[in-house]
Amino acid sequence: MRKYIPSYIRVPVLFFAIAGLIEYFVDSGNEPAFIKFPIVLVFLLLVLVVILSIEGIVAALDNVLFQSLDAAGKARYLANDAKTPKFIQWAKDTYIKLLGQKPIAQESEIVLDHNYDGIRELDNSLPPWWKYAFIISIIFAFAYMLKYEVFGGESQIDEYQTELAEAKISIEEYKKTAKDLVDANSVTLLTDASDLSAGKAAFETNCVACHMADGGGGIGPNLTDDHWILGGGIKNVFHTISEGGRDGKGMIAWKQSLKPAQIAQVASYVLSLQGTTPAKPKEAEGDIWVAEAAE
Ligand code: HEC
Repeated sequence: MRKYIPSYIRVPVLFFAIAGLIEYFVDSGNEPAFIKFPIVLVFLLLVLVVILSIEGIVAALDNVLFQSLDAAGKARYLANDAKTPKFIQWAKDTYIKLLGQKPIAQESEIVLDHNYDGIRELDNSLPPWWKYAFIISIIFAFAYMLKYEVFGGESQIDEYQTELAEAKISIEEYKKTAKDLVDANSVTLLTDASDLSAGKAAFETNCVACHMADGGGGIGPNLTDDHWILGGGIKNVFHTISEGGRDGKGMIAWKQSLKPAQIAQVASYVLSLQGTTPAKPKEAEGDIWVAEAAE
């Protein structure tokens, strides 16, 4: 049985069978068990190590047994071995070819006449896969050096800078579409007719009861004069509307019911009332607001 199924099939099949069973019996929801429970991964690695060591030990024992046979026994063993199915024989041959080694039976051809206390040296050639990988890596190194050192290809730092710049641009793009990201620090006075009319609409639904339709004031202060209790300018007005006025005065925090973008619109609308003459203006309250140079 062992002889017919080579180890490179036996090991993976056994391993994946065990892994599959674990996956089947361990309830891990949508995630694979070995990702959800790292201990499963550790266990699977352990299983792999155990399988591989058993394979290694058995193969070594086999080899020792073979070496202990006399010439006739070796011949019989090899003859028996030759009975292995064609496919497996082919796979074995290819494997040996890839390694570029002489089969044990032909080792006498390449044994060197060094002899250190009975330990002798074989003159095996380098495995072809190793040789070709080496040659390919040399060719690759040349191509790499030419591209990046001679012709100044994009280095990793350049790539990083480009990506950073691209990311900055897309953040700007995102901010443009995501108007609700504004707060009292980043808000700017909106002057678009569409923003102002949206602000006016919000003002008429929410604010006229206390500030009057023309901003002249009632329960709330006059919004058309240049006197401000809580500070003028778009940032302060945004902050007042968003967070509300002083406790007990009646101006609530509108951030509960208005989105930041709407607050920016209604704040801009309020500021557009500056200097207009309302029908019944309430007398000025607060201080004259002088815009800071920074604004
Ligand atoms: C229930 C009545 C009421 C409503 C409704 C109301 N306000 Fe006020 N508002 C006030 C009062 C009262 C104050 C003064 C608060 C203070 O003195 O702290 C005020 C203050 C303000 C101020 C600051 C004025 C200053 O001089 O600093 C602004 C700006 C303002 N309101 C805008 C609005 C907007 C915009 C709305 C609608 C979204 C609104 N208010 C709805 C009562 C109201």
